Amino acid sequence: MIKLDLHHFDTVTSTNDLLKEAAISGCPSGTMYVADSQTKGRGRMGRSFYSPTCTGLYMSFLLRQEDVKYDINLLTAQVAVAVSNVLDSKFGLTTGIKWVNDVYLDGLKVSGILCEGVFVGTEHSVVVGIGVNLNTSTWPEEIAHKAGSIYSESLSWDQRKVLAEDIFHKVLEIIQNSDSNWLETYNERSILTGKTVEIYKIADGDDHFSAKVLGIDENAHLIVENTAGQVLHISSGEALLKQNL
Ligand code: BTN
Repeated sequence: MIKLDLHHFDTVTSTNDLLKEAAISGCPSGTMYVADSQTKGRGRMGRSFYSPTCTGLYMSFLLRQEDVKYDINLLTAQVAVAVSNVLDSKFGLTTGIKWVNDVYLDGLKVSGILCEGVFVGTEHSVVVGIGVNLNTSTWPEEIAHKAGSIYSESLSWDQRKVLAEDIFHKVLEIIQNSDSNWLETYNERSILTGKTVEIYKIADGDDHFSAKVLGIDENAHLIVENTAGQVLHISSGEALLKQNL
């Protein structure tokens, strides 16, 4: 049983960066950092994550492989299901998941997940970083068309704390297998399924192709059919909806 040990900060660079340092120094599984704001919040593919003061939940927690038998290849997708589930049940929402790590509401991204592996000697750990836009209302121009929030009112620290705890427990429930339906839930909530997307292997790269999304497989890979009719299982990269290009 992993014990949650939550530490609250006002402003940090990135909760993932701080927790990675703490992991190297030996902090236990279940250590969680939550910040009111981040000056260098990071997302996948080298992107930044906009983290203004107290209008979002910016949290990271540590899992050590010796304590929790997570599958690093599935973890990001499992965390996305956990976040989507918790947001829906707490706020009465119907969120969707955009492969692989984004939670969407009404066509806008409301949450992103960044899982980062840390090796200490031969032992593997992972820092699970989650950002949720709670009531952010103004955005930098470059993301204003695609970012949204889940709620119109601000949440107190106590409310954000409970949300962070609920997400942590839901993630553990999924990866320790008492919620074995996570893949089914992921597929039900996949906002890309049935849509035509552009698959990019590298962020902002030139190398991309059009494909229709068929679903998500048991490895959390995106199943697509390309224009030549071949079915491909995509393990990494990004799928952009045509209208978002
Ligand atoms: C993404 O959108 O690609 C992932 C965003 C992850 C953001 C969270 S906020 C808490 C933690 N600290 C970070 O620097 N990133 C994650």
